[in-house]
This record gives sequence, structure tokens and C-alpha cells, in this order.
Amino acid sequence: MTVSQSIVHVINHLDRDYLRQALEHDVGVGLTASPKWLPPKWFYDATGSELFSRITRLPEYYPTRRELSILRTRAVDLAADSGADTLVELGSGTSEKTVLLLDALAHAGTLRTYTPVDVDAVTLESAAGRVAGRYPGLAVRAVCADFERHLALLPRTGRRMVAFLGGTIGNLEPGVRSVFLKELRATLRPGDTFLLGADLIKDTGRLVAAYDDAAGVTAAFNRNVLRVVNRELDADFDAEAFEHVAVYDERHDWIEMRLRAVRDMRVWVGAIGLGVDFTAGEEMRTEISAKFRQEGLRRELAAAGFRVRRSYTDPDDDFTLVLAEA
Ligand SMILES: C[S@@+](CC[C@H](N)C(=O)[O-])C[C@H]1O[C@@H](n2cnc3c(N)ncnc32)[C@H](O)[C@@H]1O
Repeated sequence: MTVSQSIVHVINHLDRDYLRQALEHDVGVGLTASPKWLPPKWFYDATGSELFSRITRLPEYYPTRRELSILRTRAVDLAADSGADTLVELGSGTSEKTVLLLDALAHAGTLRTYTPVDVDAVTLESAAGRVAGRYPGLAVRAVCADFERHLALLPRTGRRMVAFLGGTIGNLEPGVRSVFLKELRATLRPGDTFLLGADLIKDTGRLVAAYDDAAGVTAAFNRNVLRVVNRELDADFDAEAFEHVAVYDERHDWIEMRLRAVRDMRVWVGAIGLGVDFTAGEEMRTEISAKFRQEGLRRELAAAGFRVRRSYTDPDDDFTLVLAEA
């Protein structure tokens, strides 16, 4: 018997010049704003992705387990319902949960192509290699890209299911989220579907604990953004001079991760010639993670031109997976 080989192609829309310019822009804007902020995508170099993987296994971090439990029971239905031959995954990271979807699509006999999309090239390539090794004959087209900017550049061949798992949608602020959903909708063709994983509103104590674990892994993940800025933009942040903070904002229904300066300090960002003053106790926002109600999610999807075909939750109503069509 001949076993056909899987082929991995990597397309890179994020060369070093692009990344550097984008980071310079975000740091220039975010660190001169009041209050200061940095976008969460810069957490994810190889170290940040590894720390995020550790977060997903922490006892406090329920979202991954809940989303996995939904996929375990529903992946076969989702695969059949979508009829997809191509799985495109935005913010794919290590692609660990994705295997359940790929297994279901392979079992349905439709699977041809997997297109993981992520900003972290190192994690993307190793995940693509692992997936290719598991599914002989599968075309793996990994795309290193920013899903806030490059949706229109993603491959459009095949009958696609675009998956956006892990609650990553919650990292986008409402205005940005609305633009993202509309842009994504505009790339879908008849027969394509969108599979969205979103975290649901729940007890504040559990929410905060999920972003402030006892072992301090989320704190290390949070501080990693400072190490990325130091390395890429020749800055001199003392990462240990910032405390990890996670709070739930009930007005917006989102978790905010922040870094709080423990003392007055001046940070120099060499690449853009920027001096940034922090006062003791000052907090800089590094991530929001919005939490949703089912009706709110439906409304946002409808406003972007999506119709919900199926929606599933885990038995504790912690997390939801929604299959929508354009
Ligand atoms: C919260 S993690 C989720 C990872 C994985 N999907 C899961 O469910 O466990 C977010 C992932 O999205 C990637 N990411 C964040 N912002 C991105 C962006 N603007 N464009 C592409 N990938 C991004 C990160 O590198 C990371 O792998």
C-alpha cells in the first residue's frame, strides 16, 4: 500500500521588517497613551506561546477544558454539518484542540486542506509539521499572518470552515471585533462556515482566577510582552518591576490584564527613541478578554451578516461553540 505524504507549505505575510514596523507603531501609540496599553498579540513569541500552552493546562483555566469537552461530543456533527474540505484556523497556536475537528473531517471523508494562521511563526511551523505527520495526504498550508490585517490574503479555495477557537475573539475590543467579523464575513463564499469559540459570562471569582493562577504562569505570560519589546525594540524594561494584575470589568463584561509598576521608573525604547515614565502603582493594560451572553454573540454575528446554524455549550454553560454561515 502506498501512503501519500502530507505536504507543508508556509506562507509568511509577517517578515521581520513588517513585524518590527507594526511593533514600533503599537509601542509608540500605546506607551504614549493615557492610560498606557499594549495589544495582546505581542505576547506570542515562542516563549509566550509555550507559556500560553502551560496556562491551558492550569487547574484555574477552565476555557480549554470546556471547549475540548464540547468538541469531543460535537466535532462529528460540526464536520457533517459544515461539509467542509478545508479547515482554516485563525490564531491556531499549537493546534492541539484542532485535532478533534480534523479527525471528524477526516472520518467524514471530506478533509483535504488545513490552513493554520498565527502571528507566532515558530509555534505555527511546528504545529503544522505535527498535523501533517498525523494525516497522510493532507495539504497543510500554514500562514503566518495577522488576522486583524490579513484576512483578505488567506487562501479561499475549497469549501472552508474558518475556526476561531479558544475565546481569542474576546481579545478584540467591541469596535475592532465588529470590523473583524465583517471583514471575515466578506471573505466567505456560499457553503463556507465560521466556527467560533467564545467564553461565557460567569461567576467573577472563577473568571479572575483563570487569569491569575496560583502558580504564576499567567503573570510570566503577561510580563513576556515586556521581554518581547526589550528584544525587538532595544528597550530596557525591568520585567520584574511590574506586577501582574487581573480584574473583571463588569461594565464591559471583560477581564483586563494589566502590568502595575512597583516603583517610579523611566523606560527607554531605543529603536524609536522614546522615553516612557511610569509612576509607582501605575497600571498598563496588556489584554482584554471579553465574556459573552449567547444573545449578545448572536446579535454581533447577525450585525456582521452571519446566521447561527448551531450553537453548543458544555454542561456547566461555561463556554460556547457556534457554527455560523454567511
Ligand atoms: C488565546 S491563544 C489561543 C490558541 C489556540 N487557538 C487555543 O484555542 O488554545 C491566541 C492565539 O492567537 C494568536 N494570535 C494572537 N493575535 C493574533 C493576530 N492578530 N493574528 C494572528 N494570530 C494571533 C496567538 O499567537 C495565539 O496562538
